[in-house]
Amino acid sequence: MKYKVAVAGLRMGDAWARSAVENPDTELVACYDKFFDENKLIDRKYYRSCGAVLVNSMEELCASDADIVIVSTPDHFHVEQSVMALKAGKHVICEKPLAPTVADCRKIIAAVRESGRFFMTGQVCRYAPGFRLAKKLCESGRIGELSYIECEYAHDYNYSRGFRNWRMDPQIRREGFLGGGCHALDLARWIAGDPAEVFAYMNHKILTDWPTCDTGVAVAKFPNDVIGRIFVSIGVKRPYTMRTVIYGTRGTIICDNTSPAIQIAEQELAEAAGKIDFGTIPVNISSHNVASELREFVDCLKENRQCPTDVWQGTRTVAFAEAALRSASSGKAEAVEEIMPQCGE
Ligand SMILES: NC(=O)c1ccc[n+]([C@@H]2O[C@H](COP(=O)([O-])OP(=O)(O)OC[C@H]3O[C@@H](n4cnc5c(N)ncnc54)[C@H](O)[C@@H]3O)[C@@H](O)[C@H]2O)c1
Repeated sequence: MKYKVAVAGLRMGDAWARSAVENPDTELVACYDKFFDENKLIDRKYYRSCGAVLVNSMEELCASDADIVIVSTPDHFHVEQSVMALKAGKHVICEKPLAPTVADCRKIIAAVRESGRFFMTGQVCRYAPGFRLAKKLCESGRIGELSYIECEYAHDYNYSRGFRNWRMDPQIRREGFLGGGCHALDLARWIAGDPAEVFAYMNHKILTDWPTCDTGVAVAKFPNDVIGRIFVSIGVKRPYTMRTVIYGTRGTIICDNTSPAIQIAEQELAEAAGKIDFGTIPVNISSHNVASELREFVDCLKENRQCPTDVWQGTRTVAFAEAALRSASSGKAEAVEEIMPQCGE
């Protein structure tokens, strides 16, 4: 049996739709985009040639016979559309960031709980080969005990404004520190655990015609006395990077999602070599590894287990961003809201 997949929002959603066509366990049955006619980048012919129906509303998408609905629309539609799909009895994959605020995320949490359906937040970095390998090396003890982590997200959004410029719309006020920065924030949480407290500075010197700060740096306290720094910029003039450096008591890892190798320096080897240096381990470059995300979600459905990037993980990453944004405006360190499942969740 193949899981039937429906996709809403067909830019990033195009990668999801294609993954659904290519995955042997799924088939693409329906697609919806609010601007099918206006958005010339949408390849309607392709979806039809794969047997998918193009529908005219989210309601129609939810009324289709899809098992899985993928919400890949701008962030501010995630709550409404995820909740609608869950209420219609669909399993849901929702793109990152889960929602613009923790309060919004809680509406999705409630719908997940009430529906009993499976849910994935599309935190794709956890599926990027370089980051997966880095995490595995940390867990295997190659760099000793984690001490300090630096995660960066730098991406010039001047060239990624979104269809009809929603990323820079003053009414929507999308926060870049959450919208793009959630990649780096989630990665730090994945490797170092949930931060208790964060202090941040943010400024607005590059994308001055955008409504929110374009650059920010946050320092945070993680469990086990680990400290970290998250740098996010949606304006800096350089190629896209997610450079991440992980320092342990016995080594260091440098990785990102666009390099064909990760670097690792290890005390144990240095002792034999008589000097410390970086060695490299090759990895595939697959920075937007949607195909792996879909594979993981399907495996979760088959094995009846919770997805590793579930609704709680998505919400905790939003809580981290929210605390950093609060700190940047209060000028004080801020506690990160603890997001705990309540009884029965
Ligand atoms: N995982 C990643 O690395 C990654 C990369 C890019 C975008 N994203 C996420 O994907 C989402 C979409 O971003 P994008 O880059 O594709 O934006 P985009 O503006 O390029 O495309 C959005 C698409 O959704 C359509 N749309 C707009 N409002 C809609 C609505 N209410 N219902 C249905 N369709 C609607 C638009 O016509 C457009 O085709 C965002 O949440 C973004 O954060 C994730």
